[in-house]
Amino acid sequence: MNNTASYKLSIAPMMDWTDRHCRYFHRLLTKRAQLYTEMVTAKALIHGDTAKLLRFDPKEHPVVIQLGGAEPKELAMASKMAEDAGYDEINLNVGCPSDRVQSGAFGAALMADPKRVAECIFTMQNAVKVPVSVKCRLGIDDQNPTDTLPEFIKIVAAAPCKTFIIHARKAWLQGLSPKDNRTIPPLDYELVRKIKKTHPELIIILNGGLRDVDHALMESAMLDGAMLGRIAYQQPWVLAQVDRMVFDDQHALPKRAVVVQSMIEYIKRETRNGTPLHAITRHMLGLFAGEAGARSWRRIISENAPRSGAGAEVVALAAQAVLGDAWAA
Ligand SMILES: Cc1cc2nc3c(=O)[nH]c(=O)nc-3n(C[C@H](O)[C@H](O)[C@H](O)COP(=O)(O)O)c2cc1C
Repeated sequence: MNNTASYKLSIAPMMDWTDRHCRYFHRLLTKRAQLYTEMVTAKALIHGDTAKLLRFDPKEHPVVIQLGGAEPKELAMASKMAEDAGYDEINLNVGCPSDRVQSGAFGAALMADPKRVAECIFTMQNAVKVPVSVKCRLGIDDQNPTDTLPEFIKIVAAAPCKTFIIHARKAWLQGLSPKDNRTIPPLDYELVRKIKKTHPELIIILNGGLRDVDHALMESAMLDGAMLGRIAYQQPWVLAQVDRMVFDDQHALPKRAVVVQSMIEYIKRETRNGTPLHAITRHMLGLFAGEAGARSWRRIISENAPRSGAGAEVVALAAQAVLGDAWAA
């Protein structure tokens, strides 16, 4: 258990993964972790289907929206829209290395332009009362993070910005795919700890390569929190430990059968309103990872959920296969 009352444990923003269905599911596993949306560009919020992009379930709180962009005025406008919609925090993406993002000169490319980031944060924070935070990398391309990261943090912190989530590896904007950029550049947790030592007044959250809650707590012991990405999505049951281990919240551990039952209720509501079953169940495939019967769970759902007209009965069938009597009861 971490003793700091303000310690934060969050689930990372992940494009195509942490949509509202995924977040609803994750919230059934942990009441306390902060949930993040996928990145939404400021332009899309302003010019696109705003209501759809901002939609979330009240049960998701605390929920952070991540914005992408590099135009202070656009980001400020988008931040205000997100605050009005009820988001608890706004986060600026300074870590995404994809081509699409680079062509808009935002995401990780902004690591090279801390003054621009500071201007964005200043303008965003002036537009809203909720906190505005930054999610960044150690650096990009041929930057030497030992020199450039402290400089980046110093300039952006003066915006002011209090909270930094640091994905503890560089991003290579040329030559590596976004996927490779999450594995190939080496992790350097020590540099993140040095930032905290230099700036004890800042909230510094560690991200990247954390294997489970224990590992996250251990590596972030001197920090203000940790963010879990792929592990939370691929093996969501790790989240069931979060409330007890991180927040000393001793309410009963969730049971997988109860989580599935709650998702069935959710699925019934959503499919009645036109959401395809597969859009929800694709996030649940890892629920039984490592358990006996996990393959049947995945197979029954993967084969049947995409079929037209498929509904909650597919999930009940898969639950019966994996849980047997525990489900029937
Ligand atoms: C499918 C996928 C999509 C991602 N999309 C985003 C994104 O929209 N914004 C962002 O800041 N990071 C994004 N990331 C990076 C994660 O937020 C996180 O920083 C990274 O996966 C490292 O954490 P992990 O090792 O715990 O997965 C994405 C990662 C994955 C796997």
